Amino acid sequence: MRFTTSALLALPLLAAAAESPFQEYKAKFQNFLGNFVAAPEAAKQDPVAASSTKSSKAKVVGAKKIETLSLNTWKDTLYAPVKPDATRPEEWYVLITGGNKTCFGHCAKVEAAFNESVAKFATLSKSPHVAMINCDDEKILCNSWSATTGALWIFEMLPAPAAIDVYWKRLNLTTTTSQTILDLYVNDDKKAFYLIDSYFHPFDGVLAKNDLAVPVAYLLWGFNAIPSWAMMLFVSFFSRSMM
Ligand SMILES: *[C@@H]1O[C@H](CO)[C@@H](O)[C@H](O)[C@H]1NC(C)=O
Ligand SMILES: *[C@@H]1O[C@H](CO)[C@@H](O)[C@H](O)[C@H]1NC(C)=O
Ligand SMILES: *[C@@H]1O[C@H](CO)[C@@H](O)[C@H](O)[C@H]1NC(C)=O
Repeated sequence: MRFTTSALLALPLLAAAAESPFQEYKAKFQNFLGNFVAAPEAAKQDPVAASSTKSSKAKVVGAKKIETLSLNTWKDTLYAPVKPDATRPEEWYVLITGGNKTCFGHCAKVEAAFNESVAKFATLSKSPHVAMINCDDEKILCNSWSATTGALWIFEMLPAPAAIDVYWKRLNLTTTTSQTILDLYVNDDKKAFYLIDSYFHPFDGVLAKNDLAVPVAYLLWGFNAIPSWAMMLFVSFFSRSMM
């Protein structure tokens, strides 16, 4: 069964058109989903406009550029430095951050630490490429990877169609400093990270391989915005039309 993106887009938009009579229930549900699904105000924004920031904006911090990954550009950006005949992976350090909606305003410290570590990377003879994803801006991208904020992801990029190793690690939001991140790189200690081997693997997961990661991300995002009465209506309509 394949869902069309436009049908999925319609769900949260419909839901946003009406006030939910179950605010309290919704709030609880949101807390539960909060880690990986964006806040419901998202439904009122135009998702197309939100994800259509054309090219990734590169910002300069010291000698290093921090790329900003978006739904449309992340793949091209990560592949950009990879030579077609490369046998050693190009390494990317990607910070998953967020603002008040997806990180409850607690990501500023890790973000500052990451920025500072990027400046320090510039003093090393070899350093990773660096990028950032703000889940407040990139809700669908974060959902499609099932990525939580306050985490560091490492991508070991090889030329397509080679499998890509992706690691992630939750950063301690209160104690992480630029030295923490620098040490992770210098020690190259992958044991401190999880190697991703799930449906949500950005390149090699079942969802990505079947072009389902983005539809599923919209679905997860949409569920959060649908009031429960609309859900019941949908289920009763759906089950009746099955009979
Ligand atoms: C985030 O929340 C804080 C405190 O509630 C507020 O001061 C700040 O302006 C908010 N930032 C954004 C970007 O909304
Ligand atoms: C970190 O750097 C990014 C990109 O240069 C910038 O947008 C962001 O505001 C910085 N964050 C902090 C906490 O300094
Ligand atoms: C972060 O570090 C502090 C101090 O070591 C510790 O008390 C806290 O439990 C840590 N938080 C997480 C989420 O691991």
